[in-house]
Amino acid sequence: MSVCIQTSTDLAGKKILLGITGGIAAYKCAELVRLLKKSGADVLVGMTDAATRFVTPLTFQALSGHPVAVDAWNPDQGNGMHHIDLTRTADLMVVAPASADFLAKIAQGRADDLLSTLVLARDCPLAVAPAMNRQMWSNPATQRNVAQLRADGISIWGPASGAQACGETGEGRMQEACELLEQIIAALTPKVLAGQRMVMTVGPTFEPLDPVRGITNRSSGQMGYAMARAFGQAGAEVTLVSGPVNLATPLGVRRIDVESAAEMRQAVMREIGNATVFVGVAAVADYRPVNVAEHKLKKTESESAQRGRTIELTTNPDILAEVAALPAAPFCVGFAAESQHLDEYAEAKRRRKKLPLMIGNLVADGLGTTDNQVTLYDDAGRHPLPLLHKADLAKRLVEELAKRLNAAA
Ligand code: C5P
Repeated sequence: MSVCIQTSTDLAGKKILLGITGGIAAYKCAELVRLLKKSGADVLVGMTDAATRFVTPLTFQALSGHPVAVDAWNPDQGNGMHHIDLTRTADLMVVAPASADFLAKIAQGRADDLLSTLVLARDCPLAVAPAMNRQMWSNPATQRNVAQLRADGISIWGPASGAQACGETGEGRMQEACELLEQIIAALTPKVLAGQRMVMTVGPTFEPLDPVRGITNRSSGQMGYAMARAFGQAGAEVTLVSGPVNLATPLGVRRIDVESAAEMRQAVMREIGNATVFVGVAAVADYRPVNVAEHKLKKTESESAQRGRTIELTTNPDILAEVAALPAAPFCVGFAAESQHLDEYAEAKRRRKKLPLMIGNLVADGLGTTDNQVTLYDDAGRHPLPLLHKADLAKRLVEELAKRLNAAA
């Protein structure tokens, strides 16, 4: 599933130079430019002559708000140093789609049109998103060129596998606009969590009563997924142990799906050995039914049944407390969602579970909503953060976590 997660500040203040070469995947770039703009970036577009046969420069001019650079010989362009000027202010150059011919050209350092000249003259990082027929991609010549580009420090994004415009199926599809957006954001995010291996629990749990019914809660998983995305973009290796949610897995994040608290615990204990950080964002059910019926429970007509039915519950394991008590425990972060007395309850939980960091919020401020206002609790006291979109809050939590991990190192 490809669902774009983005905020208007993801690329605020960043300038992206997007190069488009001649391939049918060029149509996906219209969406990419829109997404980049919505994320706060300034986008400059350069096209090869072949690319303009697929989508007109006017489309990208309208979407980017800037004239599109196509012709290396345009006398209207200032000092005639367009190939230098365009790259000097860019934070990143991305060529998408990158045709087999263009990859071959830049692997050799050729500069016979404006776009290849920009590649050669740039002083910013470059990423390419190849798009071509599967045979062209697997051809040894293309693979040789790609290996050369990698060796030159150029990032290769994709290609993906699947149905191709030519009717064949295989590797060679350009990554979707959402994925490219995620790659661009990740490429421009400082790697303050590099080297960290994180295990996170996220979402609700579902405690079955019978094959169709169960006990669950209103956690949407949004906060946990936003954090996984931000942690991954900041360079951490992230494994999500996720309860049932309807959310896309962030790019580069490993996801293990579970339902009940018992399954969640089992998955966490299997993964935790190597982790440097554990973040318990999941709203784990405190109790589960003692008996899980093999078949769907039927409504009975007996007199006693009419008075109702009693479900006997037993306590679930406290996953976070168990991880924090491990002999070589990772840095443990807990979440406390309370409906009242936040400071008192969150700090009491932090002490009881022996955590270096607890993140607390009032349920009215965060559960199932897109914004959240949290307070951090650690040995130094309480630190309230402003009300933020969950994606922006996740970025702020990256900084807060990195600061504490550095101090603990
Ligand atoms: O004790 P309480 O459920 O309020 O604590 C919340 C924190 O503990 C959250 O970080 C949650 O993920 C974690 N937790 C857990 N296992 C449980 C209950 C809560 O890991 N059974």
